[in-house]
Amino acid sequence: MLQSKIDQLINAIQVASPANAKEVELFRQQYLGRNGDIQNLFEEFKTVPPAEKKTLGKALNDLKNLAETKYASLKDNVGEEASHQEVDLTLPVIPNKLGNLHPLTLTRNRIIEIFERLGFNVEDGQEIEDDWHNFSALNFPDNHPAREMQDTFFIQKNPDILLRTHTSNVQIRLMNKKKPPVRSIMPGRVYRNEAISARAHCFFHQVEGLYVDTHVSFADLKQTLFHFAKEMFGKDTKIRLRPSFFPFTEPSAEIDISCLICHGKGCNVCKHSGWVEIAGSGMVHPNVLRNGGVDPEEFTGFAFGMGIERVTMLRYGINDLRLFSENDVRFLKQFRAVM
Ligand code: PHE
Repeated sequence: MLQSKIDQLINAIQVASPANAKEVELFRQQYLGRNGDIQNLFEEFKTVPPAEKKTLGKALNDLKNLAETKYASLKDNVGEEASHQEVDLTLPVIPNKLGNLHPLTLTRNRIIEIFERLGFNVEDGQEIEDDWHNFSALNFPDNHPAREMQDTFFIQKNPDILLRTHTSNVQIRLMNKKKPPVRSIMPGRVYRNEAISARAHCFFHQVEGLYVDTHVSFADLKQTLFHFAKEMFGKDTKIRLRPSFFPFTEPSAEIDISCLICHGKGCNVCKHSGWVEIAGSGMVHPNVLRNGGVDPEEFTGFAFGMGIERVTMLRYGINDLRLFSENDVRFLKQFRAVM
């Protein structure tokens, strides 16, 4: 009696072919559930006469093993199927996060773009420099304070090798390797031994500009920088030239632009003057032309050195120089495309 029920179940289990997860679960409930067929047979087994217990007990256990093994493999199969089904090929892909350019890079690229359209090319220079290219050739007197330790980082106690304090070193290298006309900009990093604060850092970035040709005049300098200011900051931007002094230019001028924040009314950024300085500039000193191998009787030139940090701060309304070098992604990811 019990034996024939066992045989029937063996058959049924062997041919069962549930097609999906739901049917597999029904299979489990029917055969292996607490009120399932096999459990019922175990109940019935209690009434079996002792002489038959051994054979029937083994048959029942085999049946249960069969059902469990089958269930396990069924579950594996539909499990795999289910995970295949979870892939929805019509969903849009999750885009890879793109990094973005550093604000100083964005500004440098924009500066390059503006000057390239005026016919300037881009030249590279070196950050580790000798005294000649950073100072002497630029007409710095021997006892000029800028050479002293408080401003300049010297390398290995050798007072001749230093980290350049400005990009003007490239002026000399460029004139040495190229005959006029020279019309180049030279972006790069510079170093000065200054305490780090919201307004000063021990390294920062400049773009040097140099234009040497016959008949280059101060009017060219003024017009070039005026054009730059309007391209960079908007067509209503005004510039102001303030008399200044650099050993390597004569005459020299600081270039101010009208304050973008308050439009001349006076604010903290422009220190209530309505103007913000963005560059030093001037006509290249005859001694500097000579040191670059250029005849000052034949050629004249203008030069300028612009602070990239300063321009970037004005462009984006940033008020602390330290943000540029702290690598805080919350700051960096705010700067996306080029304007
Ligand atoms: N090198 C000067 C500075 O770092 C800027 C400058 C460059 C001034 C070229 C005049 C001409 O302040």
